[in-house]
Amino acid sequence: MSNLGRNAPQYMPGFGNDFESEALPGALPQGQNSPQKCAYGLYAEQLSGTAFTAPRGQNERSWCYRIRPSVKHVGRFQEIEVPHWKSAPHIVPGVASLGQYRWDPVPHADIPLTWINGMRTVTTAGDVNTQTGMASHIYCVTQSMVDEYFCSADGELLVVPQEGRLRFATELGIIDIEPSEIAILPRGLVYRVEVLDGPCRGFVCENYGQKFDLPNRGPIGANCLANPRDFKTPVAAFEDRQAPSTLTMKWCGQFHRTAIGHSPLDVVAWHGNYAPCKYDLKTYSPVGAILFDHPDPSIFTVLTAPSGIEGTANIDFVLFRERWLVAEHSFRPPWYHKNVMSELMGNIYGEYDAKPNGFAPGAMSLHNCMLPHGPDLDAFEGASNAELKPQKLENTMSFMFETRFPQHLTEWAAQEAPMQADYTECWAGLDRQFDGSPNPGEPLRI
Ligand SMILES: [Fe+2]
Repeated sequence: MSNLGRNAPQYMPGFGNDFESEALPGALPQGQNSPQKCAYGLYAEQLSGTAFTAPRGQNERSWCYRIRPSVKHVGRFQEIEVPHWKSAPHIVPGVASLGQYRWDPVPHADIPLTWINGMRTVTTAGDVNTQTGMASHIYCVTQSMVDEYFCSADGELLVVPQEGRLRFATELGIIDIEPSEIAILPRGLVYRVEVLDGPCRGFVCENYGQKFDLPNRGPIGANCLANPRDFKTPVAAFEDRQAPSTLTMKWCGQFHRTAIGHSPLDVVAWHGNYAPCKYDLKTYSPVGAILFDHPDPSIFTVLTAPSGIEGTANIDFVLFRERWLVAEHSFRPPWYHKNVMSELMGNIYGEYDAKPNGFAPGAMSLHNCMLPHGPDLDAFEGASNAELKPQKLENTMSFMFETRFPQHLTEWAAQEAPMQADYTECWAGLDRQFDGSPNPGEPLRI
Protein backbone atom coordinates (compact mmCIF):
# COMPACT_ATOMS: atom_id res chain seq x y z
CA MET A 1 0.00 0.00 0.00
CA SER A 2 1.29 3.43 -0.83
CA ASN A 3 0.23 6.91 -1.62
CA LEU A 4 3.79 7.94 -2.45
CA GLY A 5 4.29 8.97 -6.05
CA ARG A 6 0.72 8.27 -7.12
CA ASN A 7 0.07 11.86 -8.14
CA ALA A 8 1.99 15.05 -8.73
CA PRO A 9 3.41 16.23 -5.40
CA GLN A 10 1.30 18.61 -3.35
CA TYR A 11 2.71 21.28 -1.10
CA MET A 12 1.79 23.54 1.81
CA PRO A 13 2.93 27.19 1.70
CA GLY A 14 5.08 28.94 4.28
CA PHE A 15 8.60 29.01 5.73
CA GLY A 16 9.10 27.31 9.11
CA ASN A 17 5.36 27.06 9.69
CA ASP A 18 3.86 24.61 12.13
CA PHE A 19 2.46 22.28 9.46
CA GLU A 20 0.25 19.21 9.76
CA SER A 21 -0.58 16.63 7.14
CA GLU A 22 -2.04 13.12 6.99
CA ALA A 23 -2.12 10.71 4.06
CA LEU A 24 -4.92 8.63 5.60
CA PRO A 25 -7.95 10.17 7.32
CA GLY A 26 -7.65 10.28 11.08
CA ALA A 27 -4.00 9.19 11.12
CA LEU A 28 -2.87 12.39 12.82
CA PRO A 29 -3.69 12.54 16.54
CA GLN A 30 -5.47 15.68 17.62
CA GLY A 31 -4.83 17.49 20.90
CA GLN A 32 -1.78 15.44 21.86
CA ASN A 33 1.43 14.06 20.40
CA SER A 34 1.73 10.63 21.95
CA PRO A 35 -1.56 8.78 22.41
CA GLN A 36 -1.55 5.48 24.26
CA LYS A 37 -2.47 3.83 20.95
CA CYS A 38 -2.15 5.63 17.61
CA ALA A 39 -4.73 5.22 14.85
CA TYR A 40 -3.94 2.53 12.23
CA GLY A 41 -1.47 0.98 14.70
CA LEU A 42 1.11 3.62 13.83
CA TYR A 43 4.11 4.44 15.99
CA ALA A 44 4.59 8.00 17.26
CA GLU A 45 8.11 9.38 16.96
CA GLN A 46 9.72 12.80 17.32
CA LEU A 47 12.40 14.13 14.97
CA SER A 48 14.29 16.97 16.70
CA GLY A 49 16.15 19.43 14.48
CA THR A 50 17.27 21.65 17.35
CA ALA A 51 18.16 21.02 20.98
CA PHE A 52 15.07 20.39 23.11
CA THR A 53 15.77 23.65 24.90
CA ALA A 54 16.43 25.91 21.90
CA PRO A 55 14.64 29.28 22.09
CA ARG A 56 11.06 29.13 20.89
CA GLY A 57 11.74 31.11 17.70
CA GLN A 58 14.43 28.63 16.66
CA ASN A 59 13.06 25.42 18.15
CA GLU A 60 12.24 22.90 15.42
CA ARG A 61 10.84 19.40 15.66
CA SER A 62 8.26 17.25 13.94
CA TRP A 63 6.11 14.40 15.20
CA CYS A 64 5.86 11.46 12.80
CA TYR A 65 3.23 8.70 12.83
CA ARG A 66 4.75 5.79 11.01
CA ILE A 67 4.28 2.13 10.16
CA ARG A 68 7.49 1.13 11.94
CA PRO A 69 9.59 3.17 14.36
CA SER A 70 12.93 4.34 12.94
CA VAL A 71 14.80 1.82 15.09
CA LYS A 72 13.50 -0.76 12.61
CA HIS A 73 15.00 1.18 9.70
CA VAL A 74 18.59 0.57 10.74
CA GLY A 75 20.63 -2.54 11.42
CA ARG A 76 24.34 -2.89 12.03
CA PHE A 77 26.29 -0.29 10.09
CA GLN A 78 29.21 -1.09 7.84
CA GLU A 79 31.53 1.64 6.68
CA ILE A 80 31.61 2.21 2.93
CA GLU A 81 33.76 4.37 0.70
CA VAL A 82 32.19 7.39 -1.00
CA PRO A 83 35.47 8.79 -2.27
CA HIS A 84 34.35 12.07 -3.80
CA TRP A 85 32.11 13.33 -0.96
CA LYS A 86 34.46 15.06 1.48
CA SER A 87 33.85 16.78 4.80
CA ALA A 88 35.68 19.52 6.66
CA PRO A 89 38.33 19.64 7.86
CA HIS A 90 39.83 18.40 4.63
CA ILE A 91 43.02 20.27 3.91
CA VAL A 92 45.06 18.59 1.21
CA PRO A 93 48.85 18.98 1.29
CA GLY A 94 50.11 20.50 -1.92
CA VAL A 95 46.73 21.94 -2.92
CA ALA A 96 46.71 25.75 -2.86
CA SER A 97 43.34 27.11 -1.83
CA LEU A 98 44.90 30.58 -1.83
CA GLY A 99 43.78 32.01 -5.14
CA GLN A 100 40.91 32.92 -7.39
CA TYR A 101 39.58 29.90 -9.23
CA ARG A 102 37.01 29.14 -11.87
CA TRP A 103 35.77 25.85 -13.33
CA ASP A 104 33.95 25.03 -16.55
CA PRO A 105 30.74 22.99 -16.24
CA VAL A 106 31.55 19.48 -15.01
CA PRO A 107 30.87 16.97 -17.82
CA HIS A 108 28.72 13.93 -17.16
CA ALA A 109 30.54 10.65 -16.60
CA ASP A 110 30.23 7.57 -18.81
CA ILE A 111 29.04 5.47 -15.87
CA PRO A 112 25.62 5.80 -14.20
CA LEU A 113 25.78 7.83 -11.00
CA THR A 114 23.28 8.21 -8.16
CA TRP A 115 22.82 11.01 -5.64
CA ILE A 116 25.40 9.37 -3.38
CA ASN A 117 28.23 8.45 -5.73
CA GLY A 118 27.47 11.33 -8.11
CA MET A 119 28.37 13.94 -5.50
CA ARG A 120 31.68 15.76 -6.02
CA THR A 121 32.94 17.97 -3.24
CA VAL A 122 34.51 21.21 -4.44
CA THR A 123 35.35 22.94 -1.16
CA THR A 124 35.10 22.34 2.57
CA ALA A 125 35.11 24.96 5.33
CA GLY A 126 34.98 24.82 9.12
CA ASP A 127 34.60 21.49 10.89
CA VAL A 128 31.82 18.94 10.56
CA ASN A 129 32.57 17.61 14.06
CA THR A 130 31.92 20.96 15.72
CA GLN A 131 28.93 21.68 13.46
CA THR A 132 30.44 24.83 11.99
CA GLY A 133 31.05 25.68 8.36
CA MET A 134 29.99 24.00 5.17
CA ALA A 135 30.93 22.05 2.08
CA SER A 136 30.10 22.90 -1.51
CA HIS A 137 29.43 20.14 -3.98
CA ILE A 138 28.58 19.54 -7.62
CA TYR A 139 26.28 16.65 -8.37
CA CYS A 140 26.08 14.81 -11.68
CA VAL A 141 23.27 12.28 -11.38
CA THR A 142 21.91 10.01 -14.11
CA GLN A 143 20.46 7.09 -12.14
CA SER A 144 17.59 6.87 -9.68
CA MET A 145 18.12 5.24 -6.30
CA VAL A 146 16.11 2.00 -6.16
CA ASP A 147 15.45 0.44 -2.75
CA GLU A 148 18.28 2.67 -1.59
CA TYR A 149 17.89 5.49 0.92
CA PHE A 150 20.12 8.23 2.27
CA CYS A 151 20.32 10.26 5.45
CA SER A 152 22.88 12.82 6.61
CA ALA A 153 23.47 13.62 10.27
CA ASP A 154 26.14 16.11 9.25
CA GLY A 155 24.00 18.96 8.02
CA GLU A 156 21.10 20.14 5.95
CA LEU A 157 21.54 20.16 2.18
CA LEU A 158 20.61 23.16 0.08
CA VAL A 159 20.15 21.82 -3.46
CA VAL A 160 20.46 24.14 -6.46
CA PRO A 161 19.68 22.31 -9.73
CA GLN A 162 21.22 23.58 -12.95
CA GLU A 163 20.19 20.80 -15.35
CA GLY A 164 17.51 18.10 -15.25
CA ARG A 165 14.66 17.35 -12.82
CA LEU A 166 14.96 15.45 -9.57
CA ARG A 167 12.47 13.91 -7.17
CA PHE A 168 13.22 13.71 -3.45
CA ALA A 169 10.95 11.04 -1.97
CA THR A 170 11.35 11.81 1.73
CA GLU A 171 9.93 10.57 5.00
CA LEU A 172 7.75 13.68 5.16
CA GLY A 173 6.60 13.80 1.52
CA ILE A 174 7.70 14.30 -2.07
CA ILE A 175 9.54 17.27 -3.56
CA ASP A 176 10.18 17.65 -7.30
CA ILE A 177 12.64 20.32 -8.38
CA GLU A 178 14.05 21.70 -11.60
CA PRO A 179 16.47 24.52 -12.51
CA SER A 180 15.53 27.89 -10.94
CA GLU A 181 14.12 26.03 -7.92
CA ILE A 182 15.96 25.03 -4.75
CA ALA A 183 15.26 22.45 -2.07
CA ILE A 184 16.29 22.22 1.58
CA LEU A 185 16.70 18.72 3.03
CA PRO A 186 17.02 18.84 6.81
CA ARG A 187 19.66 17.03 8.84
CA GLY A 188 18.46 13.55 9.82
CA LEU A 189 15.76 13.22 7.15
CA VAL A 190 15.69 9.91 5.23
CA TYR A 191 15.03 10.11 1.51
CA ARG A 192 15.51 8.57 -1.92
CA VAL A 193 16.52 10.59 -4.97
CA GLU A 194 15.04 9.79 -8.37
CA VAL A 195 15.87 11.18 -11.80
CA LEU A 196 12.69 12.55 -13.40
CA ASP A 197 14.44 14.06 -16.39
CA GLY A 198 18.16 13.50 -16.79
CA PRO A 199 20.99 13.93 -16.89
CA CYS A 200 20.90 16.05 -13.74
CA ARG A 201 23.57 18.47 -12.63
CA GLY A 202 23.56 21.08 -9.92
CA PHE A 203 25.15 22.51 -6.83
CA VAL A 204 24.76 21.61 -3.16
CA CYS A 205 25.61 23.56 -0.04
CA GLU A 206 26.00 21.23 2.93
CA ASN A 207 25.40 23.34 6.01
CA TYR A 208 27.06 21.90 9.10
CA GLY A 209 25.82 24.74 11.32
CA GLN A 210 22.60 26.33 12.43
CA LYS A 211 19.76 25.96 9.95
CA PHE A 212 19.07 28.30 7.05
CA ASP A 213 16.60 31.02 7.92
CA LEU A 214 15.13 34.00 6.13
CA PRO A 215 17.25 37.12 6.65
CA ASN A 216 15.96 40.03 8.67
CA ARG A 217 14.83 42.73 6.25
CA GLY A 218 15.61 45.74 8.45
CA PRO A 219 14.37 49.00 6.90
CA ILE A 220 13.15 47.09 3.81
CA GLY A 221 10.11 46.14 5.87
CA ALA A 222 7.79 43.17 5.71
CA ASN A 223 7.95 42.35 1.99
CA CYS A 224 10.27 41.59 -0.96
CA LEU A 225 13.41 39.47 -1.13
CA ALA A 226 12.23 35.89 -0.44
CA ASN A 227 8.65 35.91 0.80
CA PRO A 228 7.72 33.11 3.23
CA ARG A 229 4.61 32.00 1.37
CA ASP A 230 6.66 31.02 -1.67
CA PHE A 231 8.38 28.20 0.23
CA LYS A 232 6.56 24.89 -0.24
CA THR A 233 6.62 21.94 2.12
CA PRO A 234 5.26 18.58 0.90
CA VAL A 235 2.15 16.92 2.24
CA ALA A 236 2.48 13.54 3.94
CA ALA A 237 3.17 10.59 1.64
CA PHE A 238 4.14 7.05 2.56
CA GLU A 239 4.94 3.68 1.08
CA ASP A 240 4.47 0.29 2.70
CA ARG A 241 6.99 -1.61 0.63
CA GLN A 242 8.71 -4.86 1.60
CA ALA A 243 11.95 -5.26 -0.36
CA PRO A 244 15.63 -5.77 0.43
CA SER A 245 16.91 -2.21 0.80
CA THR A 246 19.86 -0.23 2.05
CA LEU A 247 20.15 2.96 4.05
CA THR A 248 23.35 4.95 3.69
CA MET A 249 24.09 7.36 6.49
CA LYS A 250 26.60 10.21 6.48
CA TRP A 251 27.84 10.82 10.01
CA CYS A 252 30.85 12.96 10.99
CA GLY A 253 32.19 12.77 7.46
CA GLN A 254 32.03 8.98 7.26
CA PHE A 255 29.58 6.88 5.29
CA HIS A 256 28.01 3.71 6.64
CA ARG A 257 25.45 1.41 5.10
CA THR A 258 22.85 -0.79 6.75
CA ALA A 259 20.53 -3.41 5.24
CA ILE A 260 16.78 -3.38 5.92
CA GLY A 261 13.87 -5.32 4.49
CA HIS A 262 11.46 -2.52 3.69
CA SER A 263 11.10 1.12 2.75
CA PRO A 264 11.77 3.57 5.60
CA LEU A 265 9.48 6.13 3.89
CA ASP A 266 6.56 4.98 6.03
CA VAL A 267 5.35 8.18 7.72
CA VAL A 268 1.58 8.24 7.23
CA ALA A 269 1.00 11.53 9.07
CA TRP A 270 3.13 14.22 10.63
CA HIS A 271 2.99 17.63 12.23
CA GLY A 272 5.64 20.14 13.20
CA ASN A 273 8.06 22.72 11.84
CA TYR A 274 11.08 20.56 10.97
CA ALA A 275 10.50 19.54 7.37
CA PRO A 276 11.95 19.75 3.86
CA CYS A 277 10.85 22.51 1.53
CA LYS A 278 11.39 23.92 -1.92
CA TYR A 279 11.41 27.44 -3.29
CA ASP A 280 11.16 28.90 -6.78
CA LEU A 281 13.98 31.45 -7.19
CA LYS A 282 11.85 33.23 -9.79
CA THR A 283 9.61 34.41 -6.95
CA TYR A 284 12.57 36.25 -5.39
CA SER A 285 11.95 40.02 -5.48
CA PRO A 286 15.32 41.81 -5.69
CA VAL A 287 15.80 45.17 -4.01
CA GLY A 288 18.59 47.52 -5.11
CA ALA A 289 19.84 51.04 -5.72
CA ILE A 290 17.30 53.25 -7.49
CA LEU A 291 19.36 56.45 -7.74
CA PHE A 292 23.12 55.88 -7.56
CA ASP A 293 25.85 53.47 -6.41
CA HIS A 294 25.59 49.78 -5.63
CA PRO A 295 24.62 48.13 -2.33
CA ASP A 296 26.63 45.28 -0.88
CA PRO A 297 25.64 41.94 -2.47
CA SER A 298 24.03 40.97 0.84
CA ILE A 299 21.01 42.87 -0.49
CA PHE A 300 20.38 39.75 -2.62
CA THR A 301 20.37 37.26 0.30
CA VAL A 302 17.75 34.54 -0.08
CA LEU A 303 18.62 32.52 3.02
CA THR A 304 21.10 32.95 5.84
CA ALA A 305 22.49 30.41 8.26
CA PRO A 306 23.76 32.24 11.33
CA SER A 307 27.06 31.68 13.10
CA GLY A 308 27.81 32.58 16.70
CA ILE A 309 28.79 36.11 15.70
CA GLU A 310 25.87 38.44 15.24
CA GLY A 311 25.50 39.57 11.62
CA THR A 312 28.20 37.18 10.42
CA ALA A 313 26.75 34.20 8.61
CA ASN A 314 27.97 30.67 8.70
CA ILE A 315 26.52 30.72 5.16
CA ASP A 316 24.57 33.21 3.12
CA PHE A 317 22.81 31.97 0.00
CA VAL A 318 22.76 34.95 -2.37
CA LEU A 319 20.96 35.23 -5.72
CA PHE A 320 21.87 37.36 -8.76
CA ARG A 321 18.83 37.24 -11.01
CA GLU A 322 17.01 39.31 -13.61
CA ARG A 323 16.58 42.93 -12.50
CA TRP A 324 16.62 46.53 -13.65
CA LEU A 325 19.78 48.62 -13.41
CA VAL A 326 18.93 52.30 -13.10
CA ALA A 327 21.72 53.90 -11.05
CA GLU A 328 22.88 57.29 -12.35
CA HIS A 329 26.56 58.36 -12.70
CA SER A 330 27.53 54.94 -11.25
CA PHE A 331 29.62 51.95 -12.15
CA ARG A 332 26.81 49.43 -12.15
CA PRO A 333 28.41 45.94 -11.97
CA PRO A 334 29.77 44.63 -8.67
CA TRP A 335 32.83 46.63 -7.68
CA TYR A 336 36.35 45.35 -7.08
CA HIS A 337 36.78 44.15 -3.56
CA LYS A 338 38.40 41.91 -0.97
CA ASN A 339 36.17 40.15 1.53
CA VAL A 340 36.74 38.42 4.86
CA MET A 341 33.97 36.04 3.77
CA SER A 342 34.72 33.34 1.19
CA GLU A 343 32.57 33.30 -1.93
CA LEU A 344 31.71 30.30 -4.08
CA MET A 345 29.56 31.17 -7.08
CA GLY A 346 27.68 29.11 -9.64
CA ASN A 347 25.81 29.96 -12.80
CA ILE A 348 22.33 28.44 -13.17
CA TYR A 349 21.55 30.03 -16.53
CA GLY A 350 22.39 33.01 -18.70
CA GLU A 351 25.23 35.49 -18.46
CA TYR A 352 26.55 37.08 -15.24
CA ASP A 353 27.05 40.84 -15.59
CA ALA A 354 30.51 41.02 -13.98
CA LYS A 355 31.82 38.15 -16.13
CA PRO A 356 30.32 38.25 -19.63
CA ASN A 357 32.70 35.50 -20.80
CA GLY A 358 34.02 32.27 -19.32
CA PHE A 359 31.33 31.77 -16.68
CA ALA A 360 28.89 29.55 -18.52
CA PRO A 361 25.78 27.92 -17.03
CA GLY A 362 27.04 25.09 -14.84
CA ALA A 363 30.36 26.83 -14.21
CA MET A 364 31.50 27.88 -10.75
CA SER A 365 34.12 30.14 -9.25
CA LEU A 366 35.81 30.61 -5.89
CA HIS A 367 37.03 33.89 -4.43
CA ASN A 368 38.48 32.93 -1.11
CA CYS A 369 38.97 34.90 2.10
CA MET A 370 40.67 38.25 1.35
CA LEU A 371 41.47 37.36 -2.26
CA PRO A 372 40.78 40.35 -4.54
CA HIS A 373 38.28 39.98 -7.37
CA GLY A 374 35.82 41.94 -9.44
CA PRO A 375 34.67 42.62 -12.99
CA ASP A 376 36.75 41.32 -15.84
CA LEU A 377 38.17 43.60 -18.54
CA ASP A 378 35.11 43.40 -20.79
CA ALA A 379 32.72 44.16 -17.93
CA PHE A 380 34.86 47.07 -16.71
CA GLU A 381 35.26 48.60 -20.17
CA GLY A 382 31.60 48.12 -21.01
CA ALA A 383 30.22 49.51 -17.75
CA SER A 384 32.67 52.42 -17.63
CA ASN A 385 31.59 53.64 -21.07
CA ALA A 386 27.93 52.60 -21.20
CA GLU A 387 25.17 55.11 -21.69
CA LEU A 388 23.44 55.00 -18.31
CA LYS A 389 19.88 54.40 -19.45
CA PRO A 390 17.65 52.08 -17.44
CA GLN A 391 18.80 48.61 -18.42
CA LYS A 392 17.11 45.30 -17.81
CA LEU A 393 19.40 42.37 -17.04
CA GLU A 394 17.56 39.54 -18.78
CA ASN A 395 18.08 35.78 -18.71
CA THR A 396 20.55 35.70 -15.84
CA MET A 397 20.59 33.61 -12.67
CA SER A 398 23.73 33.02 -10.65
CA PHE A 399 24.15 32.39 -6.95
CA MET A 400 26.74 32.52 -4.21
CA PHE A 401 27.46 30.37 -1.15
CA GLU A 402 29.25 32.85 1.09
CA THR A 403 30.77 31.63 4.34
CA ARG A 404 32.74 33.23 7.16
CA PHE A 405 35.18 30.28 6.95
CA PRO A 406 37.96 29.94 4.35
CA GLN A 407 37.10 27.33 1.75
CA HIS A 408 39.62 24.57 1.06
CA LEU A 409 39.80 22.90 -2.33
CA THR A 410 39.48 19.13 -2.55
CA GLU A 411 41.85 17.02 -4.63
CA TRP A 412 39.04 16.63 -7.15
CA ALA A 413 38.51 20.38 -7.48
CA ALA A 414 42.23 21.04 -7.83
CA GLN A 415 43.22 18.16 -10.07
CA GLU A 416 40.24 16.49 -11.79
CA ALA A 417 37.55 19.13 -12.24
CA PRO A 418 37.76 21.32 -15.36
CA MET A 419 39.56 24.22 -13.72
CA GLN A 420 40.33 27.18 -15.97
CA ALA A 421 44.09 27.59 -15.79
CA ASP A 422 43.87 31.07 -17.29
CA TYR A 423 41.07 32.47 -15.10
CA THR A 424 43.09 35.31 -13.59
CA GLU A 425 43.92 36.44 -17.14
CA CYS A 426 40.43 37.96 -17.21
CA TRP A 427 41.91 40.90 -15.31
CA ALA A 428 45.17 41.02 -17.33
CA GLY A 429 44.10 43.88 -19.56
CA LEU A 430 43.17 46.19 -16.69
CA ASP A 431 46.14 48.46 -17.23
CA ARG A 432 46.84 51.64 -15.33
CA GLN A 433 44.96 54.60 -16.68
CA PHE A 434 46.56 57.09 -14.33
CA ASP A 435 48.63 59.77 -16.08
CA GLY A 436 48.52 62.48 -13.43
CA SER A 437 45.53 64.22 -14.93
CA PRO A 438 41.98 64.12 -13.48
CA ASN A 439 40.58 62.86 -16.79
CA PRO A 440 43.16 60.44 -18.24
CA GLY A 441 43.31 60.36 -22.01
CA GLU A 442 41.77 63.79 -22.41
CA PRO A 443 43.92 66.86 -23.25
CA LEU A 444 44.89 68.84 -20.16
CA ARG A 445 42.95 72.10 -19.88
CA ILE A 446 45.29 74.90 -18.89
FE1 LIG B 1 32.83 39.13 -4.14
